[in-house]
Amino acid sequence: MDYKSTNQAAWNRMADGGSLFARTATDLECDNPLRALDGQSWLPSSVEGLNVLCLASGGGWQSILYAIAGAHVTVVDISDSMLVLDRKEADKRGLSVRTIQGSMDDLRMLEDEAFDIVHQPVSSCYIPDVVPMFAEIARVLRDDGIYISQHKQPTSLQISHRTERHQFVIGVEYYHRGPLPKQIDTAYRESGTAEYLHRLDDLIGGLCRSNMTLEDFREPVRANYEVSVQHFGYRGRYVPPYLRMKARRNPRNRDRQATSAAIWTP
Ligand SMILES: C[S@@+](CC[C@H](N)C(=O)[O-])C[C@H]1O[C@@H](n2cnc3c(N)ncnc32)[C@H](O)[C@@H]1O
Repeated sequence: MDYKSTNQAAWNRMADGGSLFARTATDLECDNPLRALDGQSWLPSSVEGLNVLCLASGGGWQSILYAIAGAHVTVVDISDSMLVLDRKEADKRGLSVRTIQGSMDDLRMLEDEAFDIVHQPVSSCYIPDVVPMFAEIARVLRDDGIYISQHKQPTSLQISHRTERHQFVIGVEYYHRGPLPKQIDTAYRESGTAEYLHRLDDLIGGLCRSNMTLEDFREPVRANYEVSVQHFGYRGRYVPPYLRMKARRNPRNRDRQATSAAIWTP
């Protein structure tokens, strides 16, 4: 099976089995949807009337919160079961959400410059190459549109196991190619999926090379000093599992200037 079919099947199983990642928005979160969506204040003070693409974010969390906040929401996700949750939850709350089954690295069903915001939770690990994904995001964003995303840190994906003294072992090479092997340490890995390591050069550099400008960068803290060594919070004291980025689509006339400068500069 290719990565798309493998991950579709795995995420269908997780959605059907009530995974934590298939958690719909709660009433409390819906009372203040922008606060739930945006701990960093990266979003504008209102998203009312804006076109938002919730990319690889099926499950009825992001889509519902943006729709409650008044945005026109499109969700693209590979998993039909995750998208069922978006539609069910939208129906239950009397909201309108457009769902499209598809892959984040091929958005040809969406028009150029159709979105003001693209919001992508952790998911780039499910495709082998982020270059086409960033190119598609830059294509569907309007000039100055916002791209908010979260990704798995490569170092976290390199951890294979622990020693008997609970030291974390880097057992996967930084330049590993292809799907990641199964590991003894399964923290921050989803079983049955095909996952790929993207280096910082791919994630941060790749975004900057895709006609977008990085405006902010965060490493969400998962360290916990009150838990046992087995807990993921202990692991988080050594390696941050995620990185979060806010970027903005460069105005297209700047792309053209940059391209002509690249051609004509000796
Ligand atoms: C961690 S979940 C994110 C959704 C969840 N609402 C959340 O808040 O975390 C990752 C999502 O990526 C989706 N996914 C995996 N591979 C994909 C692909 N190639 N294209 C689009 N979505 C994909 C999965 O179906 C799943 O819904």
